[in-house]
Amino acid sequence: MAIEIIGTGRGIPPTRLTNDDLAMKLDTSDEWIRSHTGICARHIADEATACSDLALEAARQALAMVVQQEGGSGNEALVEAALSLDVIVLGTATPDYLGCPSTACVVQDKLGARNAAALDITAGCSGFIYGLEIAAGLLGIGSGRKRALVIGSDILSRFVDWTDRGMCILFGDGAGAAIVEKTENPSTGPGKRGLLRTILGADGSGTEHLIMRRGGSRNPYKTGELVDIPPHIEMNGQAVYNFAVKRVTETIEKLLSQEHITIDDVSRIVPHQANARIVQAAGKRLGIPEEKFFLNIQEYANTSAASIPIALDELNRTGSLHKGDLVMTIGFGGGLTYGGNLIIW
Ligand code: COA
Repeated sequence: MAIEIIGTGRGIPPTRLTNDDLAMKLDTSDEWIRSHTGICARHIADEATACSDLALEAARQALAMVVQQEGGSGNEALVEAALSLDVIVLGTATPDYLGCPSTACVVQDKLGARNAAALDITAGCSGFIYGLEIAAGLLGIGSGRKRALVIGSDILSRFVDWTDRGMCILFGDGAGAAIVEKTENPSTGPGKRGLLRTILGADGSGTEHLIMRRGGSRNPYKTGELVDIPPHIEMNGQAVYNFAVKRVTETIEKLLSQEHITIDDVSRIVPHQANARIVQAAGKRLGIPEEKFFLNIQEYANTSAASIPIALDELNRTGSLHKGDLVMTIGFGGGLTYGGNLIIW
């Protein structure tokens, strides 16, 4: 039995905000942002768009890919494909609603996935990596479930302080999705396929380094309270940077050693797109050539839980992933969390 990704999709808001656009409102420059992060632009959701809307677009694209591969077409086939889903797992830090209902339930309804259980997971930018492993568990032997939809979707533009130049330049909005299926292919030995191994980790002592302080039960808004800025994420950039380089490096090493392979066996590393310098630093420590890492941060910036599935979809749709390729995902995020998957495409 293998857990395979059989379709991918993404939902990207059309409005594109370049570094130069930002430099007109903030004391920053295209040169600073590019040289410190690798980011050139980001996409920003309009006011009417919520997390579930981007997630829905990504999910529909992923389902359409599956329908096409199965030789189907038209709306009826899409409706059937949505009904074939047994579970929806959605990673986000910016849900439609605080706590209840889950954004996964909103997507389930809009998609018409009436047979699917649905849940959100809060693992920050590691949401998709966690989500794949959770979906694999939910599809496990004896579960009676066969197909899952795993989504990472975030609208961080709504939760940053747009006057904080060290923070707001980093993020963009988007969603990415993957349809994951339990197949008859082997997951070990010759001809093995799908999700091979996942490492998940957390270091809760770093909660303060990436935090949205207001609005939860610890620090709720009070009746009549006046606020200067809407709820927003606060970050200790240097601490997150150091954590990220350390954990990305360690996780790559662990995935390779636990699977008894070398980096040469890996076709592509798809890292969380937070800062190109983090990826370069980890690559340098491990002697991994830069070309091995796929980066599209220049166009989308940090889309949080969406960044890895958006990157996977881009690679998939441009024909850059071939059957049998070994793909590694690596990520980190609020929590602090980290992790990685090894997948035979
Ligand atoms: N434009 C121009 N200057 C800026 C700026 C901007 N957008 N943001 C910060 N600066 C300035 C600072 O004010 C500081 O000026 P000073 O030396 O006069 O005080 C200088 O640039 C250096 O700031 P610093 O914070 O030390 O920059 P850095 O090289 O550490 O880069 C980050 C900052 C945020 C890009 C980097 O720490 C980072 O990427 N951290 C990880 C963040 C992350 O990935 N978060 C999401 C995790 S999922």
